[in-house]
Amino acid sequence: MRPWPGVLQAFADRLPVSDRTPPLSLREGNTPLVPSVSITRDLPEVELYFKWEGANPTGSFKDRGMVVAVAKAAEAGARAVVCASTGNTAASAAAYAARAGLRCLVVLPEGSVATGKLAQARMHGAVVASVPCSFDQALQLVREASERLHIALVNSLNPYRLEGQKTAAFEILDQLGKPPEAVVLPVGNAGNITAYWRGFSEALPPRHRPRMWGVQAEGAAPIVVGRPVEHPQTVASAIRIGKPASWEGAVRAASESGGRIFAVSDEEILHAQARLAREEGLFVEPASAASVAGLLRLAREGVGIRGAVVAVLTGHGLKDPATAERTPQPVRVEPTVEALASLL
Ligand code: F0G
Repeated sequence: MRPWPGVLQAFADRLPVSDRTPPLSLREGNTPLVPSVSITRDLPEVELYFKWEGANPTGSFKDRGMVVAVAKAAEAGARAVVCASTGNTAASAAAYAARAGLRCLVVLPEGSVATGKLAQARMHGAVVASVPCSFDQALQLVREASERLHIALVNSLNPYRLEGQKTAAFEILDQLGKPPEAVVLPVGNAGNITAYWRGFSEALPPRHRPRMWGVQAEGAAPIVVGRPVEHPQTVASAIRIGKPASWEGAVRAASESGGRIFAVSDEEILHAQARLAREEGLFVEPASAASVAGLLRLAREGVGIRGAVVAVLTGHGLKDPATAERTPQPVRVEPTVEALASLL
């Protein structure tokens, strides 16, 4: 078996890269498509799979697009990159900038970023700015900063990001050996659903393309309510976004595919997260569990779902260890076998 080269090389013929693009790689992509063993039983006519994007080098799907954006920035002679982030984009930008020898500035909404993601950005040597504003305001700030300071913007407004992210769709087709009936994924800034739809549209004729179901959190569901949300609230901090940059892309993906964008409650998200961890062995962060929460909601509403369905699990649970606080605390016992036996 040949080693996996990473997204840039594996998909070179379908990405805007050339001989002049630096061969940046952390061997991102090629993430497992894991069949469901338990949750699938709630969906009798469905063959459920999880696209486990937490297996990427920095623990989220962002690496697919970031490798392209940072390589193109280096190719263009940039010395620094900048992004606003709810955490995962920052962790990924910091890692790829470190590898490419570029400086990295990340702008984070104060108090809203999970501990693991912040630790990643700091360890990779990014300059971390914590600003007392929302993600949406932080994004506006870095747009202006990138223009005035001449540094490369690596948010998903950067077209190379979505180009890289579309490769997940190619992998799903390859791994499944057929197009899925539907793909369900969380929606925050709405880049990922836009990228998946682009990938499927490039790879498949219209009638074979999957339905795209995008899931927002109820307290941060601007696309569902049809207007920006000024103070978005949800336990899923990664998708606490009130004015998605790729709003139109998400709406188009849902409408052209015969899918929809809808919302689930925080309770449903946490319930799905716990089930993924306890029944499937997959520890995802809360935002990622929105996809499964959405699927279970559709099933309860009696939306006819059958055939192969892929739920995208966008990020690793270790990024947000605070969610484990809701589970039983470790029990303090004496170091004896009898004491252990009494626990079982
Ligand atoms: N899941 C996770 C784990 C995320 O980090 C994000 C977005 C999404 C889903 C939503 O994807 O924005 O393309 O609709 N995180 C961004 C960030 C906003 O800054 O890390 P989207």
